[in-house]
Amino acid sequence: MANKTPLIVTLDGPAGVGKSTLARRLAGELGVAFLDTGAMFRAAAFTLGEGSWDLPQGLLQQKLGDFDFTLRGSGADTELLLNGHALPAAIRGEETGRWASLLAVVPSVRAYMKMAQIYLGNTTSLVAEGRDMGTVVFPQATHKFFLDADPEERARRRCRQLEAQGKPADLKAIAESIRQRDDQDRNRSIAPLKPAPDAMVVDTTFLTESEVLEAVLDRVRGLR
Ligand code: DC
Repeated sequence: MANKTPLIVTLDGPAGVGKSTLARRLAGELGVAFLDTGAMFRAAAFTLGEGSWDLPQGLLQQKLGDFDFTLRGSGADTELLLNGHALPAAIRGEETGRWASLLAVVPSVRAYMKMAQIYLGNTTSLVAEGRDMGTVVFPQATHKFFLDADPEERARRRCRQLEAQGKPADLKAIAESIRQRDDQDRNRSIAPLKPAPDAMVVDTTFLTESEVLEAVLDRVRGLR
């Protein structure tokens, strides 16, 4: 890949729509790395702690200066590292998701994340998933997708995922948390969640993971 412009495929969409699973499988099919940008916001929220979104911008900027995100490996085995270490499993909890969504409205945090993500995309071919990949971070991406699904179906998927991991899952609480995050992510003034004008929108409500993968792969390979 040394002299070639890296291939960038963007996947954006709301919480619980299946972006991470699709990004991992798509990266495996394409033989490139995947970048879970939600995990970057979650890791920052987890490390900086509750209420960090209320800290002065300058202090947040200073704290983020100590963060160094890197990628190791490629395909489904890609690992996102923070200062050389794997991200803790605890970042996946609903509460950290809520904190991440609150931290993600802060201008200095968005500026840092955008810079770190562009740097990774300049050096590595990527399937990049998040909220603003196709609109703000990688407007030049070769292929852009926006996944959507009915909020209740997204809450059910998230519940099934937690149950499969042997964790407690309260459908009503998850549906409410998803509703709040959707609201926060869609209505913020910087980089709100929305499809890029040139993104292919895929409603996954009635599709299986494999059907979504097939539709996206067909488009990337130029079959649709
Ligand atoms: O994808 P996720 O649920 O892990 O993301 C957690 C939060 O991080 C999400 O609610 C909003 C924020 N986020 C963001 O603002 N921009 C991104 N590109 C990815 C995530």
